[in-house]
Amino acid sequence: MAVCDTLVIMGGGVMGRGMARLFAKAGMRVTLVDVRDIDFVHPGVTLAHEPPGEPVPDLVIEAVFEDRDVKQSVFARIEACYGGRPVLATNTSGLPLDELGASLTYPHRFLAMHFYQPADLFPLIEVVRGARTEDSAMAVAEAAVRRAGREPIVLQRAVNGYLINRLQHSILHEAYHLLESGIATAETIDKVAKLLLGPRMCITGLLEQKDLAGLEMHAQAQRSIVPTLSHTGVPSAYLQDMVARGDVGVGSGRGFYDWHGRDGAAVQRRAAARLERLLAYLQKDEAE
Ligand SMILES: NC(=O)c1ccc[n+]([C@@H]2O[C@H](COP(=O)([O-])OP(=O)(O)OC[C@H]3O[C@@H](n4cnc5c(N)ncnc54)[C@H](O)[C@@H]3O)[C@@H](O)[C@H]2O)c1
Repeated sequence: MAVCDTLVIMGGGVMGRGMARLFAKAGMRVTLVDVRDIDFVHPGVTLAHEPPGEPVPDLVIEAVFEDRDVKQSVFARIEACYGGRPVLATNTSGLPLDELGASLTYPHRFLAMHFYQPADLFPLIEVVRGARTEDSAMAVAEAAVRRAGREPIVLQRAVNGYLINRLQHSILHEAYHLLESGIATAETIDKVAKLLLGPRMCITGLLEQKDLAGLEMHAQAQRSIVPTLSHTGVPSAYLQDMVARGDVGVGSGRGFYDWHGRDGAAVQRRAAARLERLLAYLQKDEAE
């Protein structure tokens, strides 16, 4: 049976720190490597500027900047240190997995482990097989996820965005279209997400809910609604323009909402605490 005891995380930013907390809490030996000096202390986590020579880790997770060249230079460093002994996982959100791994010497050890932010909160972690990943590498990544008390969502082939971001982006793309067209406000769209779609998905998911409701009416609605959805095939210009003019959300004071004079950090903290309580409730409720 695959085991995962020692872990090296490359990149001690937002995601790397969350992963370090998660795996150290599960009793794994974790080294968090960053080129910068980082201010992070957690029992069971050793900080370093370079991957340690010994022991050879079972798993290396790369969580550096979302930049192909930076990631590939980290992969080369890891292969130079350890050869093909550890499993090498990337946490990329959007870079195509097989292109990212194209220059590897040991592509059979390479896969993606995709965490959501905060990395130590959500119960599910995507584990994605690359074109040449061997079964034993998948087994080590899945063992690490299970050891941390999380559930692996296994994808047997890499698709851009994996499963969760594909679903999320398809609904957001339509939301931007409705907003841009003046059909609904940001407040209205978020109210529907918070009080209708979100709660219903928490209980019966997407597909089970359709089975429960019966598929005839749903198939009919697909025939009339799908042709009218926003099928642009390009990123939303509305969103790209916002970012180009510096309206990037809480950080700049303006995004879909006006954040001037509001304590964005307090809103984020409250949201994280509420999410934690909701997930605890849902997991308990699901188990009953
Ligand atoms: N933030 C999110 O919500 C989120 C969610 C899922 C996936 N991701 C992905 O996770 C990865 C990391 O994202 P993040 O938000 O933690 O980024 P971040 O900018 O917070 O952290 C990146 C860290 O990598 C370090 N770094 C850069 N080059 C390095 C190198 N050669 N060796 C070691 N460390 C190096 C940087 O100093 C920095 O501390 C990205 O690929 C991102 O797409 C992010």
